[in-house]
Amino acid sequence: MYFLVLAAIIFLVVATMVGYSIVRYRARQGDADPRPSFGHRRIEITWTVVPLVIVLGIFVFTLRTMANVDAPLEPDRPPDLTITGHQWWWEARYPNGATTAREIHIPAGRRLLVRIESADVIHDFWVPQLARKMDAVPGRTGYIWLRADNPGTYQGACSEFCGMQHAGMRFEVVAEPEADFSAWIARQAETPAPDPGERLFRERKCADCHAISASDATPRIGPPLTHIASRKYLGGNLPNTPGNLTSWITSPQSILPGNRMPDSRVPADELQELTRFLETRR
Ligand code: CUA
Repeated sequence: MYFLVLAAIIFLVVATMVGYSIVRYRARQGDADPRPSFGHRRIEITWTVVPLVIVLGIFVFTLRTMANVDAPLEPDRPPDLTITGHQWWWEARYPNGATTAREIHIPAGRRLLVRIESADVIHDFWVPQLARKMDAVPGRTGYIWLRADNPGTYQGACSEFCGMQHAGMRFEVVAEPEADFSAWIARQAETPAPDPGERLFRERKCADCHAISASDATPRIGPPLTHIASRKYLGGNLPNTPGNLTSWITSPQSILPGNRMPDSRVPADELQELTRFLETRR
């Protein structure tokens, strides 16, 4: 707001002077060329000193704002959450082993130290309402603070072009009261009860790309599905309904063209069984 007001004042002063000069000194019939004038010490000092003071003022405000929005990291503090960018989804890993994709839960009113990494190319983690942007660079780690003062769902996006489905790399940060968050993270760290559908899931090679157990920390190309049924969205911002899940299993390429999951030709009965099995993963 300070900048906006300041810039508006400067704009008005300059626009007024330009407008005045256009009218006052416009060419009239019979005008000769005016006599050139060289140098005017007082004016030159003024138009050097005034902008210098303004820019120094802006510099001080900028430093203060930077310090406010990006507090220094605390040395040796382990991260509360590790976020990894993948083509084209976000993985969130918590210290207790809970791992999820796309839907990141945080406790409201508490500041989390987040480590940002990438599994493939450069992505950029960005939740405009909660924190500044942070690039996810392969082979490097970045850190930011993430904090939501109020419970709610905050939209996030990848902010660095990272390939075909860059625009589809959306995610949500769900900030919830501390008790709800504790319950959520405890549940996410457990594996749902065994189900006979898991056999088919493994036979059809789904398990090559997707984790299905909370204790499975092997890096994989696809998002973990251990608690897929508890998430609101599937890839491509598709609401997580049994019907959409079935469509996703058969034709992910028409929903999110270019993504890493191939279309599959699963017989109808197996498709139904896979969907049923995944719906038990909550
Ligand atoms: Cu990831 Cu753009």
